[in-house]
Amino acid sequence: MDEAAPTPLISAKAAAPLNGTIAIPGDKSISHRALMFGALAIGETRITGLLTGEDVLRTAAAMRALGAEVTRDPDGTWRVAGRGIGGLTEPADVLDMGNSGTAARLLCGILATHPLFSVMTGDASLRGRPMRRVIDPLSATGAHFFAREGGRLPLAIQGARDALPLDYRVPVPSAQVKSAVLLAGLNAPGITRVEEPEATRDHTENMLRHFGATVSVEISETPTGRNGRIVELQGQPELRAADVVVPGDPSSAAFPLVAALLVPGSKVTIPAVGLNPLRTGLFLCLEEMGANIAILNRRTEGGEPVGDLQVTGGPLHAVDVPPERAPSMIDEYPILAVAAACATGTTRLRGLKELRVKESDRLAATAALLTVNGVRVEIEGDDMIIHGTGAPPSGGGVVETHMDHRIAMSAIVLGMVTAAPVTADDAGFIDTSFPGFVELMNAIGASIRPAAQS
Ligand code: S3P
Repeated sequence: MDEAAPTPLISAKAAAPLNGTIAIPGDKSISHRALMFGALAIGETRITGLLTGEDVLRTAAAMRALGAEVTRDPDGTWRVAGRGIGGLTEPADVLDMGNSGTAARLLCGILATHPLFSVMTGDASLRGRPMRRVIDPLSATGAHFFAREGGRLPLAIQGARDALPLDYRVPVPSAQVKSAVLLAGLNAPGITRVEEPEATRDHTENMLRHFGATVSVEISETPTGRNGRIVELQGQPELRAADVVVPGDPSSAAFPLVAALLVPGSKVTIPAVGLNPLRTGLFLCLEEMGANIAILNRRTEGGEPVGDLQVTGGPLHAVDVPPERAPSMIDEYPILAVAAACATGTTRLRGLKELRVKESDRLAATAALLTVNGVRVEIEGDDMIIHGTGAPPSGGGVVETHMDHRIAMSAIVLGMVTAAPVTADDAGFIDTSFPGFVELMNAIGASIRPAAQS
């Protein structure tokens, strides 16, 4: 997809308050996992609400290439006929994971303990991202990985025949690394143990249980006082097919949510948003900034807490976000930075080191997004400082999106309030996580159009 011509978009100030209901797509993290677990289970798994963004379609294609049957009914339900743990077959061609770090890293975990040869690649963004964080621990299963310089894709993998279970302390807070180790443990005898210094999203643990695996989780107090976790998986379980209902993605809800807060007088409802407490750091920050967000109709769907967000636009003030909150909102910093740029006072976002290895260097890309649109921003070590004036920034900038969907959507939201329109140099990657974003936002009152028509 990196070879496609760029599709620049211009976002101009909304002429009227945003108003209406916006249905957001299914959770990306849960969608990847549902397809992977379905492929590893015995029987047919049915998935409703699956995200049909590019990233997840890459996972679907990879699981097909590994022998699972993955189909979509006309009503949008997906069916996965699984092969059982250890039952995947050698792929006939290179597995192309597109833009998706989650797909690539989780799949490395599965492939490490299947005695198969495979080759994995991705687009230019993914080929630039560090894979050593999974290669190093997974090599201890007995698998062999051959990567480019710096542990980058393309990657050749020879999975272990008699895999060893891992006991690993994840050095960085990363749900992808934790999940890769746990997935490898599915086809290794005995206990696989992962210790994480800070709790990260627990969709893998939850879904493993949902498919019948035995998983225990213990909270471990770390010297920094942060809540770490120790996760143990009993190896070689028989995973049984289980239906999955995918909740709306809170990381996608973040964009219409912030847009509605910033455009004065807006009233927007976002139904069925996932509210897993390890994902909701952004909502907490926005509430601390004075945002008016009501969560209605709280319920549990498919084992995950969900609720309907009702958002009312209004002024925001600065916030100081502690580093320990980062894992619960790791993908939300670019859009939070946009909110902070429009708020009164100086915001400090602390401990953003991991943002440097996302789909782009998001720390640099977010700072540049704001700077070209007239906002004063500094990066101090791993912190970002944003000087909000309480008035919308001047705008008028062309934002370099660096193949990063969340930078593109953040730029578009900023343009809804700036004096001059904001251009995103390539909005094509929005489809990786939020297909239909532009149409849905325009339907509630945004003014986003192809740059060529300007
Ligand atoms: C994800 C984990 C996070 C997040 C990504 C999805 C997952 O990545 O940024 O969008 O589904 O496990 P890290 O594990 O690199 O923090």
